[in-house]
Amino acid sequence: MTTLFTIIFHLIAPLIIITISPRTTLSLEPACKTHCGSLEIKYPLGTGHGCGSPRFHPYVACSSDGNHFLLTTHTGIYPITSISYSTSVITIAPPCMSNCTFMLPSPTNFGLDWPSPFQIGPSTFILLACSAAAVDGNPICDPSSIYLCPSIYNCPGVVSLGLPPFPSTNTCCVYSPANLDSDDELDLRQLKCAGYSSVLELGEVPADAQQWRFGVALKYTLGGLDGYNIAPSCHGCEMSGGVCGYAPPANSFVCVCESGNTTTDCYSFNWIIMSSSLRLNGDRLGTLAVISVLLIVI
Ligand SMILES: *[C@@H]1O[C@H](CO)[C@@H](O)[C@H](O)[C@H]1NC(C)=O
Ligand SMILES: *[C@@H]1O[C@H](CO)[C@@H](O)[C@H](O)[C@H]1NC(C)=O
Repeated sequence: MTTLFTIIFHLIAPLIIITISPRTTLSLEPACKTHCGSLEIKYPLGTGHGCGSPRFHPYVACSSDGNHFLLTTHTGIYPITSISYSTSVITIAPPCMSNCTFMLPSPTNFGLDWPSPFQIGPSTFILLACSAAAVDGNPICDPSSIYLCPSIYNCPGVVSLGLPPFPSTNTCCVYSPANLDSDDELDLRQLKCAGYSSVLELGEVPADAQQWRFGVALKYTLGGLDGYNIAPSCHGCEMSGGVCGYAPPANSFVCVCESGNTTTDCYSFNWIIMSSSLRLNGDRLGTLAVISVLLIVI
């Protein structure tokens, strides 16, 4: 049957192309990419509108140069530095976050958007250069993690926070577990701190902050409220080299393949080319955006 299909297809395909030539050019660059910079992008994340899950757009997208995968919230734009699909965690590097080599005051809060699928994940926030009165006895500061404070206060960068070298740790607060406030923000002014850091991993020598891995971990949830339950088709689509996406306005599932969009996967024989961008070169006809071709193999 496969052979029969191949023969039929080879007979039909040129006819289709001939019918729409010579005034048309087929644009076959897929709208959704499998990579952004060095990161592999898979469902539910997507590189742009129509890619991944509709709940994740516009919070995440690939920059227009294709090099940076970005999280956008009401407080800023944050580069995503790693993604773990098995644990549903992304890590970001906020530009105002301090690390051991480079410490800086944070003039803006870090925040998430309440309706977005992202929440604070398993990283440890350390609030820096706080007023001693704000730290003393503050229940948000975790006494069992206070040992992290002398380590990070050994970093030479502390002086750029307005602190003396090797400052006393009574201006440092390990905010763990961290919570965002009612505006979904880490409000440093309210907490009376000048800057913050976030640690993903302590490395082999916890006392040596030079070896810590810095970043803010965010957990994402798929949520079931949008009725966009596509997991079975999506797996097959990704296995066939496609990218899972959705078609507004109903946000129905599409598998974005190099040869066009399908409703199943890129190998599919009962395939529906749902839409191909066929741009007709004449003003008279304008742009014919949707051509539906349905080939049914019995
Ligand atoms: C395929 O689907 C993607 C994602 O929804 C969309 O952006 C793109 O325009 C579609 N491609 C074609 C050729 O219709
Ligand atoms: C420290 O922060 C600076 C400025 O945000 C950044 O350029 C640098 O890559 C960071 N270093 C590490 C080790 O995270």
